[in-house]
Amino acid sequence: MSDRIQAVDLFCGGGGFSTGLALACEDLGHDVDLMAVNHWTTAIETHEQNHAWAEHRNAKVEELHPPDVVEPGEVDLLVASPECTHFSVARGGRPGRSSTGATLGSRCGSGIGRSLRTRWRG
Ligand SMILES: C[S@@+](CC[C@H](N)C(=O)[O-])C[C@H]1O[C@@H](n2cnc3c(N)ncnc32)[C@H](O)[C@@H]1O
Repeated sequence: MSDRIQAVDLFCGGGGFSTGLALACEDLGHDVDLMAVNHWTTAIETHEQNHAWAEHRNAKVEELHPPDVVEPGEVDLLVASPECTHFSVARGGRPGRSSTGATLGSRCGSGIGRSLRTRWRG
């Protein structure tokens, strides 16, 4: 493994997961190169404020062609926190019964992880 960790954060939001992964890598003595993806412009702008060192893609995860974004085989760590708006109160209402969010997160995470041949996925 190189000294730098190449990481991708899908559904990056404001960057809580990004902070966690960066701190974990730092604890292990690695610097991080991060690609952060979110389809909501406000989230990307927030993530840019919190993690100016990262690269950003303002795009729907399911519409990205992963090899156009990062080179397959070069990603060490992929994190994909499922979008919560379909199964939590994040939309301002009661949690729905739909598992669309979890399904999208795991489908995108595992499919993209496979196509990029990542070392670790979470
Ligand atoms: C639970 S929040 C992510 C929180 C983030 N991981 C953090 O640690 O701050 C889910 C995010 O997924 C984004 N999102 C939902 N559907 C998306 C999609 N199809 N493609 C990209 N981003 C999406 C939402 O805009 C929202 O910012």
